[in-house]
Amino acid sequence: MAVGELALLGGEPVRTKAWPEWPVYDEREMNALKDVLESRAWSRSYGPKVQQFEEAFAKYQDSLYGIAVANGTAALEISLKAAGVEAGDEVIVPAYTFIATASAALQVNAIPIFADIDPDTGNIDPRSVEASLTDKTKALVPVHFGGRAADMDSLLEIARRHNLVVIEDACHGWGSTWRGRKVGAIGLAGGVSFQQSKNMTSGEGGFILTNDAETAGKCYSLQHIGRIEGRPFYEHHVIAWNYRMTEWQGAILLVQLERLEEQTQKRWENSLFLEERLKQFPCFRVLRTDPWVTRSSVHVYMIRYNEAAMEGVSRDKFLQALNAEGIPAWSGYPHPLYRNPVFTEMNFGRTGHPFTCSLYGRSVDYSKCDCPGTEQFCGDAVWLYQSMFLADQEDMLDIARAVEKVWENRATLRGGT
Ligand SMILES: Cc1ncc(COP(=O)(O)O)c(C=O)c1O
Repeated sequence: MAVGELALLGGEPVRTKAWPEWPVYDEREMNALKDVLESRAWSRSYGPKVQQFEEAFAKYQDSLYGIAVANGTAALEISLKAAGVEAGDEVIVPAYTFIATASAALQVNAIPIFADIDPDTGNIDPRSVEASLTDKTKALVPVHFGGRAADMDSLLEIARRHNLVVIEDACHGWGSTWRGRKVGAIGLAGGVSFQQSKNMTSGEGGFILTNDAETAGKCYSLQHIGRIEGRPFYEHHVIAWNYRMTEWQGAILLVQLERLEEQTQKRWENSLFLEERLKQFPCFRVLRTDPWVTRSSVHVYMIRYNEAAMEGVSRDKFLQALNAEGIPAWSGYPHPLYRNPVFTEMNFGRTGHPFTCSLYGRSVDYSKCDCPGTEQFCGDAVWLYQSMFLADQEDMLDIARAVEKVWENRATLRGGT
C-alpha cells in the first residue's frame, strides 16, 4: 500500500472515524433503572436485582456461588479475609498489576510479596512464586492479566504442595477461559471488577466467585457487616465491611450480562485477527499464547514493542505517531507496582502496621525488589483497550495500516523531521 507522510508530521491520519463508545447501553438499561427507581427498593436488602445478578453471573462464570460487592478491590479483600489470611501472613502477588491486588493483602493486615511475571505472557511466573515462598506464605493471588489466564496448573500445584490458598484476581476475567473453563473459581475464590473501564460495568462494582459453600457464606457476611443469612438483622458475627452492591448496579449488570457473551467472543476473534496482522511487523513481538489460554476477555490487548527493530525509535515516540494516526494505543504501567511511592517510602502510617506487627516479625524493604521480567515488560508493553475490539474486522485493519505506516516511516521518525 502507499504509505504516505506521518500524521504526526502533518500527513493525513489513517483513521479519523471514532472508535466504539464505552460503556454500551440502550433502553434496556434505562428501563431497568426506571424499574428500580419506581420500586423504591434501592438497596439489595429491599429488592431482587442484586441477588438475581449473583445467580446469573456465577452461573455464567462456571461458579457455584457468587457474591456481589461494591468493587473489585473489596472482592479481593473479602476473599482473602474469608480464606483466613491475617496479620503475620505473606501473600504472593505479581509485580505487574493494579495496586488493588497488593493493597487487598495489606487491608487484611498481611504482607504482599512481589513475584515476577513472565514477560512473554504478562502473567505471574510460577518459578518466581516458588522463589518467593517462605514459612509465612499463606496465599497466592495470580492475576489473569488483560483477560489471559495465568498458569493455574503450576500455581495450584505449588499451592497444594505448600498448603496455600489461591485467590484469583479475575478483575479482568469476565468470560475468559482457562482450559475451556471460566476463570475466578478455579482456586478457592476470585474477585471480579465492574468499574467503568471494565468489559462489563455498572460504574463501580465487584463480585466474588467461589465453589466452596463455607467461603461463600463467609464472603456474604463480610460484605454485610458481619450478618449471617437467616439470622436476626441486628446480630453481627464478625467485624466486617458494608461493601454491599446497590440495586442500581444489580439492575444495570443484569442487562450488561445479556450482551457479554457476544461481546467477549467478538473481542477475542478481533484480537486474533489483529494479531495475525501485527505479527508481520518487526516492531512488535506478540505474547505467547499458552495452551490453557482458551479465550481472553481482551480487557487489555497487549503486545511488546521492539525498539531495536525500529532502529532506536523510542516506544513513546512510536506511540505518539500511532496515536496521531487515530489509534489510541498506550504503554500501560510505567513501572512495577513495588516502585510506587507507597512501597518505596514504606508509607504505612504512624505505626508501620502490619510490617511492625509482632506476629510478622520480619522486615521488608520494597526498595530492594527486583523483578527483571516486570521491568522489561513495563518498558516495552503496548496496550490497546477492550472497547476498540467491539469494532469490526475492517477497523482492525486500520490498526494494522497505521502500524505499517509508522513502521515504514521509522527512519523519518528516528530523525524527528
Ligand atoms: C487487576 C485488577 N485488580 C483489581 C482491580 C480493582 O477493581 P476496582 O477498581 O473495581 O476496585 C482492578 C481494577 O482496575 C484491576 O485492574
